[in-house]
Amino acid sequence: MITCENGIFAIQAEAYSYLFRVNHQGRLEHLYFGAPVKTTDAEAFYCRPGLGWGASLLLDDKDPASCPDTMALEWSCSGRGDLRESPMAFGGQTKSPVYHSHAVFDGIAPMESGLPQAQEASQTLLVTLAQPGLEIQLYYTAFPTVLTRRTVVKNTGSETLSLTKLMSFCLDLPGSYHITTFDGSWIQEMGKHTLPVLDSRIVNESTTGFSSNRHNPGILLSDPEATEDSGRVYGFNLVYSGNHYSSAQRSHQQLTRVMMGISPDNFCWKLAPGADFEAPEAVLAVSDAGFDGLSQNMHRFVNDHIIPKKWQNRARPILYNDWEGCGFRFDHNRLLGLARKAKKLGCELFVLDDGWFGKRNDDHAGLGDYTVNKKKLPFGLKGLASAVNKLGMEFGLWFEPESVNPDSDLYRAHPDWVLRDEHPLILGRHQLLLDLTKPEVRDYIVEKVSRVLDSANISYVKWDMNRHSVALGEKSHRYILGLYDVLGRIFGPRPNILLESCASGGNRFDLGMLCFSPQIWCSDNTDPIDRLAIQTGLSYLYPQSTFGAHVSAAPHAQTLRHTPLATRGNVSFFGCLGYELDLKHLLPVEIKEIQAQITFYKQYRKIFQFGRFRRLAEGWQVSRGDTTLAGLYSGLCHAAPGYQWLKVKGLNPKVDYRMVSRQQRLRIGQFGGLITHIAPISINPHGILMRTVDHHVTLPDGQEDIHCSGAALASGVALAPRFLGTGYDKNARTQGDFGSNVYVIEPAP
Ligand code: GLA
Repeated sequence: MITCENGIFAIQAEAYSYLFRVNHQGRLEHLYFGAPVKTTDAEAFYCRPGLGWGASLLLDDKDPASCPDTMALEWSCSGRGDLRESPMAFGGQTKSPVYHSHAVFDGIAPMESGLPQAQEASQTLLVTLAQPGLEIQLYYTAFPTVLTRRTVVKNTGSETLSLTKLMSFCLDLPGSYHITTFDGSWIQEMGKHTLPVLDSRIVNESTTGFSSNRHNPGILLSDPEATEDSGRVYGFNLVYSGNHYSSAQRSHQQLTRVMMGISPDNFCWKLAPGADFEAPEAVLAVSDAGFDGLSQNMHRFVNDHIIPKKWQNRARPILYNDWEGCGFRFDHNRLLGLARKAKKLGCELFVLDDGWFGKRNDDHAGLGDYTVNKKKLPFGLKGLASAVNKLGMEFGLWFEPESVNPDSDLYRAHPDWVLRDEHPLILGRHQLLLDLTKPEVRDYIVEKVSRVLDSANISYVKWDMNRHSVALGEKSHRYILGLYDVLGRIFGPRPNILLESCASGGNRFDLGMLCFSPQIWCSDNTDPIDRLAIQTGLSYLYPQSTFGAHVSAAPHAQTLRHTPLATRGNVSFFGCLGYELDLKHLLPVEIKEIQAQITFYKQYRKIFQFGRFRRLAEGWQVSRGDTTLAGLYSGLCHAAPGYQWLKVKGLNPKVDYRMVSRQQRLRIGQFGGLITHIAPISINPHGILMRTVDHHVTLPDGQEDIHCSGAALASGVALAPRFLGTGYDKNARTQGDFGSNVYVIEPAP
C-alpha cells in the first residue's frame, strides 16, 4: 500500500515500511526503511539539524535546516551543497532538480529500454524531480518482501546532455553498518567479505563488461551486532548483467549513503533533446531477523517475481551433462551409451555440452558456426534427440552464441561483427565477443539459434559466455541491452525451454539473467567442499532453485581432492541436481549409490529446490510443509572425535518429530588393511579379491532415528558417535574426511 499525505510518502508492505518526505525546499528526505512501522511514526524518524553544523553550505542562509550535506536524502546532486557522492553526473554540469509531482499506479511501471524487470507488484510510486531542461523520475515499486527502485532521466531541454553517471537509487540510511560483498574469480565465485563502513568510501564494482565473478552486484549492509538470526540487515541487488557499481560511505552525521547502478567507469551517454535514459531496476530488502531473514526476503522475491512465470515453483529436471565426462571427444554412439546409463541412474534430461558444431574439436575453433558436426553426429541433433527421447529422457543443448573464434566461418565472413576498436584484438579462451549492439549480429544469432532449437526436440538450453568484454561505458550497456533483446526474441516464443545460463560458471550470476533463465550454473568448480562456500555465498542473495549443482568425479578436476560420493550428492541436493562425470567408469557400488541419491532427491525435490532455505553452523537446511531436510558437512576428520549435535531451526517446539538420516553405505576399500584383522581368511588389501569386494559390496553406515520434540531439535540433538578407531560399529557414523549426511525431519506418526 502506497500513500502520500502531508508530504509524507509511505510504502507499507508485508516485510517492511519505507518512509520519506518532501521538504520545504523540494528535497526528498529519507525517514525510515525497516521492519513494518506505522505511517504516523514518520515524524519520529526525522533527523533534526538544530542550528546546523559549522562550515556547511546552506541553500538558504537563514535556514540551518537547508543544508543538503547533512540531510538523509533519497536523491542528490553535486554542486549544490551536498558534498557526498552524487548518484548522477552530467559531465561537469550542475543539475539540481527538485520535487515536481508524483503519481501512484497499480502493478509495475513497464520499462521501455528493453531492460528486464521484476513482475507482478502491488503498486508503483513515481516521484518526478524537475528543473528547466531536465526531469528525474524516481520509481518505487512495492513487492511483498522487497522494494525496487529505479531512475529515469529525461532531457526536456534543447541541448544534448552528456550523462556520465546515473544510479538506480541513492539512499542515506541512519546509523553505521558493516558491508558484505561477494567476490572471487573463475572457480572461486562468491567469497564473502565483510568490512565496517567508515568514513572512506567502499566500492563494489564490475568493469569486466558483465556482472562478473569478481564482484557480484549484490551487497549487504548489516548492523554491526547483527547475527544470522537477529539484528537489522539490508540487502541490495541489481536486475542487470553488465558493469555495476555500488558504494557505501558513512558521513560525519552518522548517515550511511548507499547507492547502486551501472558502473560510471568510462560511461558517457549522449542524451539528445526529448530522449530519456533508464537505469536498471535495483532491489532493496531489509530484515530485523538477521542475515537469515534478509535472505528469506530475497529468496521469496526472486522465486515469485524474477524467475519466468512458467518456471516458478516448477520442479527442475535432474540432468546429466556430458562435459566433464567427455569434453570434446564424443560421437552419437558414445553419447547414446551415456544417455542409457544416465537413464538407468534416474536422470531425466540429457544435456549435450560443447563440441557438437562446426570444427569445434577443442576450444580454439568453431564458435559461431552452429551447424551440426556430421562426423560426430551423423544422425544430426534430431536423430540424437529422438534417440534420447525414446529412452524416456528429455534432450538439452549447449550454445555460446555471444562468442566467436577467429578460426570460424562466421569470423572469416564477418570480421567486422566482433567487439573491437582501433587496437589489436585481445582474445580470451581463444575467442572474441560478437558485437551485440549491431542489429545484424543480433538477427544472425536469433536466426541461427532458433533454427537449431526448432530442428530437434530440445527442451533445455545451456547458454554459455566465456570471456570478459573489451567494450567500455555506453557500448558495454548497449551490448547488455542487445543480449536481453536476443534472449527475449529466442526464448519468449519458446517458454517451454528451460534455460540455464552460464558464464565460465558463475561469471554472470545476476538477477538480469534470472529474468530469462530460471537456473544458473554456479561455478565450474564442482568440488563439494569448495561448493559449500560458493553455494553458501550465493544463498545470501539467491534461492537454491537458481543453483545448477552437479555431482562430478573424484579426485576432482580442479582440486584433486577425493571426497565421498555421498558428500558430492549431499551438497548438490541443495540446488538443481545434476550429474557431470564419465558414467562408463562407474563401479557397481557407485551406480547403486547414485540411484539411491536420485531416488531420495526425487522424493524431496520440491523441498530441496523451493523449500525455505536456512544456513546452519555446519551446513544448510530447507523446509516446506511439515518436512525439514538438514545437511551436515564435515571437513578433515580427527582421531577420537568428540560428540556432535545437530540444531534444526524453524520447527514447532511443541510438535513431536522423527529425525532419520539418509542411509549411506561404506566402501569396503575405505578400510584398507584393517579388513585383514576381521577377515576369516588372509586377504591382500591391494589384491584382486579385495578390489572385487570393494567394487560390489558396501556396509551400511550408522543411521540416526531419533524421536523428540521440535524444542529438543532446536536446542540440538546428540548424533551417533563418529568412527573412533576401535573397530566397525554399525551404529556409528563412519564418514572419514569430508563426510556428511542429510537428515529428514518430519512430524512423528
Ligand atoms: C565453460 C562452462 C562449462 C562448459 C565449457 C564448455 O567453461 O562453464 O560448463 O560448458 O565452457 O566449453
